[in-house]
Amino acid sequence: MNVGPTTPLLPANEAAVAAAARCLVAGGLVAFPTETVYGLGADATNPAAIARLYAAKGRPAFNPLIAHVGDLVAAMRIARFDAQATALAQVFWPGPLTLVLPRTKDCAVADLATAGLDTIAIRVPADPVARAILRAFGGPVVAPSANLSGHVSPTSAAHVQSDLAGRIDLIIDGGAVEVGVESTIVGCFEAPMLLRAGGLPREEIERVLGRRLVQPPDDTSDNGQPLAPGMLAAHYAPRTPVRLNAGRLEAGEALLAFGSVLVPGADTATMILNLSPQSNLAEAAANLFGYLRLLDTTGARGIAVMPVPQHGLGEAINDRLRRAAMGRE
Ligand code: TXA
Ligand code: MG
Repeated sequence: MNVGPTTPLLPANEAAVAAAARCLVAGGLVAFPTETVYGLGADATNPAAIARLYAAKGRPAFNPLIAHVGDLVAAMRIARFDAQATALAQVFWPGPLTLVLPRTKDCAVADLATAGLDTIAIRVPADPVARAILRAFGGPVVAPSANLSGHVSPTSAAHVQSDLAGRIDLIIDGGAVEVGVESTIVGCFEAPMLLRAGGLPREEIERVLGRRLVQPPDDTSDNGQPLAPGMLAAHYAPRTPVRLNAGRLEAGEALLAFGSVLVPGADTATMILNLSPQSNLAEAAANLFGYLRLLDTTGARGIAVMPVPQHGLGEAINDRLRRAAMGRE
């Protein structure tokens, strides 16, 4: 594979989709847009490609990947669906929902991609470019977010370039993503479990299930393994210290605002970015990672973040903000 100091970037069109599919067939690594965040795709059945993918991201291989497929029929070849999982897939796919399910016996996805677990995470993305690439390739594609491990997820092709240029084979530029936070992950266990808050609000899932999603027991299961192994505390972290629920601004801080009424001291901010002046949570989610990246480049002493309501997409936004505030190991 030809990985030079830079990586070719193609605007999303038919030729780019064909090039992406060829690259995946050849064992290459292709970044492409999904409706949540940009993903870094590899052939899910090719262990060598998956090993390169972990290396390119600097991601520990005990952290399993999400398999992306074109539809429910393709998903059923690699995982066993019970009635609840089928109901969720029928209502929310394609879309920002990932289901964790038991692998089928003849599941073609490489063990390396699922970190040896007997479950597999699957999603059917809604973004038309992602769908076209999956159709052209014709098999499952594993795709973590296309950032260096530990950075915030990319919501534009430029973010992918700044993290991974020279480390991967191809970037498909489909413009800014629509949702802006990663998919919601539901573990389809006896009691369905919210493994990661994300782009599909919990309330919508609970309405379809007719029951509450249970919370993972303190991020660890019985055997001490994290249930969603990637959800280690400090994960979505900028380099600049992040201070949550700021009631006023301190000297030298930049402000990540929400709503029309700014906190006292805002006039002294080194820079202000407002997630949503109209207090719209969908708009705030779409802006979140891009604004964190921008504020991280200004040399501010810290990033003060105004409170964001906890309902709907606010649960995912606050989850990512908490992780950003825990800083980097
Ligand atoms: O929106 C998204 O989900 C994006 C786009 C590209 O599809 N992908 C994404 O992938 O966020 P990644 O690798 O950054 O996060 C996947 C998460 C990790 O926390 C991982 O530990 C968890 O899914 N996961 C994967 N397989 C799992 C499994 N079998 N059981 C529990 N958690 C699993
Ligand atoms: Mg990620």
